[in-house]
Amino acid sequence: MSAERFTTLDFKEMKQRKEKIAMVTAYDYPTAQLVDEAGVEFILVGDSLGMVVLGYEDTLAVTLNDMIHHGKAVVRGSKKAFVVVDMPFLTYQVNNEDALRNAGRIIQETGAQGVKLEGGLEIVGAVKSITRAGIPVMGHLGLTPQSAGQLGGFKVQGKDPRVAKKMMEDSLVIEDAGAFSLVLECVPWQLAKAISEQLSIPVIGIGAGKFCDGQVLVYHDVMGLYTGKRPKFVKQYAEARNEMVKGIIDYISEVKQGSFPEEKHFFTMSEEVLAMVMEE
Ligand code: KIV
Repeated sequence: MSAERFTTLDFKEMKQRKEKIAMVTAYDYPTAQLVDEAGVEFILVGDSLGMVVLGYEDTLAVTLNDMIHHGKAVVRGSKKAFVVVDMPFLTYQVNNEDALRNAGRIIQETGAQGVKLEGGLEIVGAVKSITRAGIPVMGHLGLTPQSAGQLGGFKVQGKDPRVAKKMMEDSLVIEDAGAFSLVLECVPWQLAKAISEQLSIPVIGIGAGKFCDGQVLVYHDVMGLYTGKRPKFVKQYAEARNEMVKGIIDYISEVKQGSFPEEKHFFTMSEEVLAMVMEE
């Protein structure tokens, strides 16, 4: 395999071959290195950054500069994965010119390969203006955290036939507007399956069942690092937090006891030089 990054074409072909796509979030250089080395095809610099890294209650406080700052680190840390950066709240909803300018800043300043926008028909103009400029766009339907207030909270979306029908239509509208991929969050599996089957672009699910073309999870959930509420759809694959806290407890204890640092961690100077320094 070449050292080049995955492309939108690779993802299209993976869907055609029915090969599942693995995506995970990352927000910094060491995490990007780690998930890239592990072999994910997609890294999402999600605005979940607000909760899992910056300690906010939701994603609304995350700014364009926050996303650019973290996006740059992720691009520097990864070699093969296709990096998508979330466009934060109010950076694409006001007007299409703003949307293009802000998407352009993300791509130019971070070196990421694409941007992700939440919404359906209401953001189609923004998707069109960004894709027309040649920037790959990933859509996001279902539970869209930037509009959680309007959706009545962090709830499964599409159990109601009217909402499900609109999601089916929105997915086609987003594909037609030029998006290369779509995230479906917190959607009944039957609806996610129907949407995945009706689109030619890959659908990446989170809490959307196993019939999507790929899956995405938040890194801190996968690794057991987030202490906030854990949604039903999360599977934790490691107990990293316990291991990390234990490491720091051991460090504190050795500092207090004087057993760290050991001689192998010291630097030594010659007795002659020391004598010169000490003489009055
Ligand atoms: O911000 C994020 O991490 C996301 C994923 C949950 C898809 O949008």
